[in-house]
Amino acid sequence: MLSDDVRMQSYFRAISENEECFRGKVILDVGAGSGILSMWAAKAGAAKVYAVEYTSMAQHARKLVRRNGLDSIIEVIQSSVEELILPEKVDVIISEWMGMVLLRESMLDSVIRARDRFLKPGGTLWPSDATVYGNAI
Ligand SMILES: C[S@@+](CC[C@H](N)C(=O)[O-])C[C@H]1O[C@@H](n2cnc3c(N)ncnc32)[C@H](O)[C@@H]1O
Repeated sequence: MLSDDVRMQSYFRAISENEECFRGKVILDVGAGSGILSMWAAKAGAAKVYAVEYTSMAQHARKLVRRNGLDSIIEVIQSSVEELILPEKVDVIISEWMGMVLLRESMLDSVIRARDRFLKPGGTLWPSDATVYGNAI
């Protein structure tokens, strides 16, 4: 996935071209994987990022965060988002949850649950909506 240029550029631009939406904010990265989205959010000025990843990839993410000097901002938590306990609500949820035709093998349910449990009223979800196009053949 990290070598998927379209995917990576889209997320990078969404964050870096909207830094004002991240600056000083508390962020939750649902399914952080390598932590790349968390690191971009931190570089955009986030005050605190909770990077939640349930596989052992969390350990690699922790190392990458430290090597990038962002461990004072990003807290990597190895947990499913369903079992997650956070000390505070967040301003922004970022996640790359999309599967084939959006929903297949996707994490949308987890993101929705995270939104309902952790997002402050008026908080934002990135991405917040999606469109599926179909074509008869
Ligand atoms: C599509 S990958 C995205 C990784 C990273 N955010 C990125 O953009 O490169 C989704 C990640 O979410 C994790 N994940 C899926 N469901 C999860 C859940 N319920 N709680 C925590 N992590 C989850 C997977 O293990 C995987 O690493």
